[in-house]
Amino acid sequence: MTKIGVLISGSGSNLQSIIEAVKSGRIDGEITVVISNDPEAYGLTRAADNGIATRVVKHGDYLKRQDFDKELVRVLQAGGVELVVLAGFMRVVGTLLLEAFPDRVINIHPAILPAFPGTDGQAQAFNYGVKLAGCTVHFVDEKVDHGPIIIQAAVPVLAGDSKDELKARILKCEHKIFPQAIALYCAGKLRIEGRRVVITGIDETLLSEQALISCPL
Ligand code: GAR
Repeated sequence: MTKIGVLISGSGSNLQSIIEAVKSGRIDGEITVVISNDPEAYGLTRAADNGIATRVVKHGDYLKRQDFDKELVRVLQAGGVELVVLAGFMRVVGTLLLEAFPDRVINIHPAILPAFPGTDGQAQAFNYGVKLAGCTVHFVDEKVDHGPIIIQAAVPVLAGDSKDELKARILKCEHKIFPQAIALYCAGKLRIEGRRVVITGIDETLLSEQALISCPL
């Protein structure tokens, strides 16, 4: 059973989806600690409500970025963490953390990477006028929103959509693919080959006839 540490900054709805997947047995893992850089993050309440240990590591308390990272690593290692999950963690993680957890840090981003990296991916996509927006789960490397991609989902942008409606539609999809990617990791089904992530044991023939086209035929 993989020991998971989750880093959050806000509402923690993705954290909630991971908690549910652990509870139902879909993820063969255990969340040993939830860390927030914001003491007000609602995700801390979600964790506590589920009996999960929580810690606050405020980035503002550290003069140097490295010291912030060092404290994150210390707390994660104290929890015996094997997989680090960034679930709406709004800080860039440094090399110190990546070196402590090589190929063991996973992030969710609310856009189809490599399009629209950085903050507010959904708004970037909306403002650009894309017909298909979406989300990406990927391994984290030294560059922002850049590491090898595990799962992506495409979400249509509808004519009358507001930014918030699109954001909500993408978030619903995040709640599906993030637990799914973590489950695959915990089951030992992910293998990184350069930029590509190979998933073992899935039937891709099911996919070969599928496409999400933005204009109904
Ligand atoms: C999610 O939409 C996640 O993709 C995004 O923050 C939100 C957190 O929501 N993450 C990023 O933008 C990271 N670059 P949540 O706290 O309800 O899970």
